[in-house]
Amino acid sequence: MTAGLYNADASFYITGGTSTANQIAISALCEKDYIILADRNCHQSVHFHTQSSDAEVHYLYPDLRTEDGEISAWSYEHLERTLLTLQQNGKACDMVILTAQSYEGIIYDIPSVLERLLAAGISTRRFFIDEAWGSLNYFSEDTRPLTTMNIAPLLDKYPDLDVVCTHSAHKSLFCLRQASIIHCRGTPGLPDRIETAKYRIHTTSPSYPIIASLDAAQAVMAEHGSELAAHARDLVSNFFNGLSSLKIAGIEVVCPHFFSSHNHIHYDPTKVMLNVSSLGTGAEIKKYLCEENIYVKRLLNNVLLFNFHIGINNQAVNSLLSALNKISQSKIVNTPSEMEVSESFIIPYPPGVPLVFPGEIIDDAIRNKINEYRKNGFLIIAA
Ligand SMILES: Cc1ncc(COP(=O)(O)O)c(C=O)c1O
Repeated sequence: MTAGLYNADASFYITGGTSTANQIAISALCEKDYIILADRNCHQSVHFHTQSSDAEVHYLYPDLRTEDGEISAWSYEHLERTLLTLQQNGKACDMVILTAQSYEGIIYDIPSVLERLLAAGISTRRFFIDEAWGSLNYFSEDTRPLTTMNIAPLLDKYPDLDVVCTHSAHKSLFCLRQASIIHCRGTPGLPDRIETAKYRIHTTSPSYPIIASLDAAQAVMAEHGSELAAHARDLVSNFFNGLSSLKIAGIEVVCPHFFSSHNHIHYDPTKVMLNVSSLGTGAEIKKYLCEENIYVKRLLNNVLLFNFHIGINNQAVNSLLSALNKISQSKIVNTPSEMEVSESFIIPYPPGVPLVFPGEIIDDAIRNKINEYRKNGFLIIAA
């Protein structure tokens, strides 16, 4: 039933996390003296397991980067060129390993990438795609076409193709941690190879609670999957509307369309980035939000990443909006407008030595200094 839900030929429940699922997938696909190309941005488990196989491993280094260097990706042209060059040098890759979706929400259009590679004459027929963040993508029209198991036309055209992907089901569905699934599509012998690799690698005492949570989550998704995916998108849209109607000063939604000129790169609509640099450093705002019981998933300098999971509701969105509003209000108190006479001490902490005394004028130079302190992680206290 689970395989049917994801358009797979077969699916396997794994109770040791996606690190174990990745090891099983790699072991099922890899043969002696294999040549592998692996995306450098893959999770550590891919690198550990490929290195401990006897395969010759080459790496796909990302060629696209955001200005601050925090987020990177590969262009289709770079991938094709790397594979063709290896092939022309007698190092045709037997297996390619890619990550379908990054932590920050970049989603590669895997079906179109595979289609283009095969049409370009790449001889690789085994693809392993780590799709750890992507379970929910199968339940919404805007993301389903990008998913790894959505490759029916390719299988008709290339009957010798084997494609395997892994999901950390707990990352986007209602599952216990370490609940993972391996899905596969391809030649008739592929499910058996995965079953054997699973038998060899997986614990012989799989966790029943995790298996039960996987089963329950699939049942929920079969019944309510598209509704839940739409719910997560509605939460994001309510959040955006709230931000614009509250007019929260100094907070800016970062346009998530990094590398948007590359048509194989898309973005997870349930992940939102906020630039808070005019309020303080990312670390400062994360700390304030934590005091409001809001957990920030990730910081990229002064950009906060929020994951609108199917398990949260509008109450959580409203709490986030009101916490951001509160922070922005206190920022307005802390940073008076041009040439204002200060009514209070303005103190960067540490070290706690006042920058401005009551009655002193706050001009642009002082204001820049305050901003500089904020950027460097100091608390600015008006007392
Ligand atoms: C892309 C990716 N693959 C694999 C894993 C490993 O999953 P697990 O922690 O369940 O072993 C992670 C974990 O965050 C991940 O982000």
